[in-house]
Amino acid sequence: MTTTRLLAPFQRFRRLRRSEALRRLVAETRLDPADFVHPLFVSHGHGLRNEIASMPGQYQLSLDQLAAEAEELRSLGIPAVLLFGLPETKDGLGTEAYARDGIVQQAVHALKSADPGLCVICDVCLCEYTDHGHCGIVTPSGEVENDTTLELLGRIAVSQAEAGADIVAPSDMMDGHTSALRAALDDAGHTSTPIMAYAAKYASAFYGPFRVAAESVPQFGDRRGYQMDPPNAREAMREIEAEIAEGADIVMVKPALPYLDVLSQARQRFDVPLAAYNVSGEYAMLKAAIQNGWLEERRAIMEALTGIKRAGADIIITYHAKEAARWLVER
Ligand code: PBG
Repeated sequence: MTTTRLLAPFQRFRRLRRSEALRRLVAETRLDPADFVHPLFVSHGHGLRNEIASMPGQYQLSLDQLAAEAEELRSLGIPAVLLFGLPETKDGLGTEAYARDGIVQQAVHALKSADPGLCVICDVCLCEYTDHGHCGIVTPSGEVENDTTLELLGRIAVSQAEAGADIVAPSDMMDGHTSALRAALDDAGHTSTPIMAYAAKYASAFYGPFRVAAESVPQFGDRRGYQMDPPNAREAMREIEAEIAEGADIVMVKPALPYLDVLSQARQRFDVPLAAYNVSGEYAMLKAAIQNGWLEERRAIMEALTGIKRAGADIIITYHAKEAARWLVER
């Protein structure tokens, strides 16, 4: 009798872990395909489906591939895509980024005509479109100029909204970009286009595979003069606060896994929708280990995504979106 009483407390936590059904019943965090945003790299050309070497399962796609893509995302319950463009030509001012017939503008048309219900988010930045690969206008001395860049970013956002984008997402990390975009959008009559601001975007080594995929490697220097320094979390709160004050509708922390503390603090401090960008290097890292047989694919990926949601993300931008949605639907 006494022994049973003594043993009982030690069964306390394990009791609810005994079966899959019990574990599901008491799960505090649930992933849903509706949490995901799938990034896409769109390119000129025809019949193009170039796999990105460091990102197995991810492709540079030409416009004719987008209808099938939209169809697949819809069948999996993934509500949104984030578009990155590979222009025909690059120049000092990144002109294709704000051209009416730019690659991203055409991709928005293609996706919206394939599925008007798909939420199309456009990345607002210059680095894929400039010949120097930086996210803004570069002075002769090699400085990335803040204020003159804002004008161009506003033009990009307006041309994307004109093409039919549902959300614009500035990733350039220029100061004041959200108020510049809001003003430009409002002046052009796009008062109902929301802004998802890359508020706490760190100067990260984990963007490496993306820069190859988007062909946006800086030709000199690096982005540490405008992206955040990895040691700083309090500064991220100030960045996010400023972006919300400037009119951001959704704020983002990027990358995700090395910055879960920042995500969690942001969740506690702010009540706006919070996005986490599970970036290219995080994807590459898992895929490489999985290909080597060092990690179990499904469990490792779902654990990583669950961690991001548990830390506080409402929205997860991830290259794993399709496979994760497939596993969630299968269950
Ligand atoms: C553009 C941009 C980058 C990413 C998203 N937007 C690259 C960078 O800042 O160098 C990275 C996304 C990823 O790694 O998946 N500024």
